Amino acid sequence: MRPLRIALTKGRLEKDTVTLLEQIGCDCSAVRDKGRRLILPVDGGKYEVVLAKAADVITYVEHGVCDLGVVGKDTIMEYGGSFYEVLDLGFGKCRFALAGPKNSSFFEGYSSRTVASKYPNVAANYFGGKAMDVRIIKIEGSVELAPLLGLADAIVDIVETGSTLRENGLEVIDTVCEISARLIVNAASMKLRRGEIEELVGRMEKAVRQSD
Ligand code: PRP
Repeated sequence: MRPLRIALTKGRLEKDTVTLLEQIGCDCSAVRDKGRRLILPVDGGKYEVVLAKAADVITYVEHGVCDLGVVGKDTIMEYGGSFYEVLDLGFGKCRFALAGPKNSSFFEGYSSRTVASKYPNVAANYFGGKAMDVRIIKIEGSVELAPLLGLADAIVDIVETGSTLRENGLEVIDTVCEISARLIVNAASMKLRRGEIEELVGRMEKAVRQSD
């Protein structure tokens, strides 16, 4: 049988995930010294780590080519999918926020609003809950540009330290929800390789609780 495969979000969550794997005693030297390789052995080949973009982590886990995945709640909320979300890993903490130019009084008046977001589904759900007439424009990155250029009245985006907003003259209008990294598991793997998965998840859970 192939090793348990863990899809790991490249970039912001990568370092914390590797640290967590090391905390539970896994040898991650191949991941730390990965060069341009995208599939790396962990713990002498007991596990395999696959480095992927956030949305692709969900795709690989949903299709069962990876058994587990580490991905932000932001990506889960935007793309959904059928898998088990088994653990809040407690890192990658940030929030979804509605933000706009300072003193913009976004919620006042009845005129139609335009909001830019990299997360159009999250934005649509948020405004759907408020029964507001909002046009949503999808932007791929640096969403803060949209209100600055006059394309949108506000943005729904991730805020971590708040410095991107601050340095561009924007401010949080409302918090949509809190975000952190989650461990997800393929539904079939959960049945077929339950023992191995529970053992790994159990160790991760213990380490997460200890670092709380
Ligand atoms: C995210 C987000 C904000 C920024 C927030 O962008 O979209 O722009 O980080 O972080 P801060 O509150 O600490 O300033 P990211 O760096 O992922 O790049 P992107 O905008 O190109 O997606």
